[in-house]
Amino acid sequence: MKKIIALLIGVSLMSSVAYADKKVIAHRGASGYVAEHTLAAKAMAYAMGVDYIEQDVVMTKDDHLVVLHDHYLDRVTDVQEKFPGRAREDGRYYVIDFTLDEIRRLDVTERYRIDKDGNKQAVFPDRFPLSKSRFKVHTLAEEIELIQGLNKSTGGDIGIYAEAKSPAFHLAVGKDLSRAMLQTFKDYGYDSKDAKAYYQTFEIDELKRVANEVLPSLNMDTRLVQLMGAGEVNPYDEMTTDAGMEALSKYADGIGPSMFMITETKDRGKTFTKSDLVDLAHKYGMEVHPYTFRVDSFAIPGFAGSYEGLLELFLFDIGVDGVFTDFPDKTIDFIKGRDAK
Ligand code: G3P
Ligand code: CA
Repeated sequence: MKKIIALLIGVSLMSSVAYADKKVIAHRGASGYVAEHTLAAKAMAYAMGVDYIEQDVVMTKDDHLVVLHDHYLDRVTDVQEKFPGRAREDGRYYVIDFTLDEIRRLDVTERYRIDKDGNKQAVFPDRFPLSKSRFKVHTLAEEIELIQGLNKSTGGDIGIYAEAKSPAFHLAVGKDLSRAMLQTFKDYGYDSKDAKAYYQTFEIDELKRVANEVLPSLNMDTRLVQLMGAGEVNPYDEMTTDAGMEALSKYADGIGPSMFMITETKDRGKTFTKSDLVDLAHKYGMEVHPYTFRVDSFAIPGFAGSYEGLLELFLFDIGVDGVFTDFPDKTIDFIKGRDAK
């Protein structure tokens, strides 16, 4: 691993700068190039010069925090082969049913789905090949130590942007995921809003609990982001009114909406209507960091025309403050190139 990091940094180390005051957040690392949430993907993102690196966090059976997108193991690891018979009735392998030692025995791969014949198919077929090289699951602390270690050795200042995944699911079985995450923030010096860290979650009640109970009881603070998903029945509708956004701004520092809450489309991306979400958030002093900006052709809506068109629209026409992207290099190149004109 050390060798990989050294090589990556040797090839293209850039200092962390919020180019044009826009934050580039490496979504699950440089996940467009290397399996998501692996230390290799994080080191690659670091070397590209991002502002923040994202962690999705879940808890193991023995209460360790691990960096994985879901509370399941069966879409990015070989858990089916290593632990046959450990799935629940729904066929899924839950992180909370495995100890950290067991999870460390798994190999991580590019994200896959299972087809009707039971075979693994890459979700992003043009990305890193399935089941090649050797990647492992790591803890939140191990990832922070990588980022802080690189900050020391390179003189950089790249931050963390950690999401509590399904905190209510964890709380229901007695696991306080958010508290454990924020204790880890504190242990590593991220204990005020001045520190380069964000806590994010989709769960509305959990963000309120974090703001009103967890942070005060830990005698710390950090920047809080309310994630929002697009959908027909939307639990975030109330928050996206003037009064709702004002109320949210009393305890949160920003929002992380799906890009399709900003550019609403009724014809599968051919055209869009701009919502007032960004203006509303800015009215109440909130940052806006939409997700997820991807180069993969199916991920670029027709109305944008190209990845660069998508970035121009969101970052400069609409004026969001940063983006979650699987392709940090292309995003930074675009912003820097535009700045240079
Ligand atoms: O946290 C921002 C973005 O990552 C939300 O989507 O599903 O990739 O965690 P997801
Ligand atoms: Ca996330």
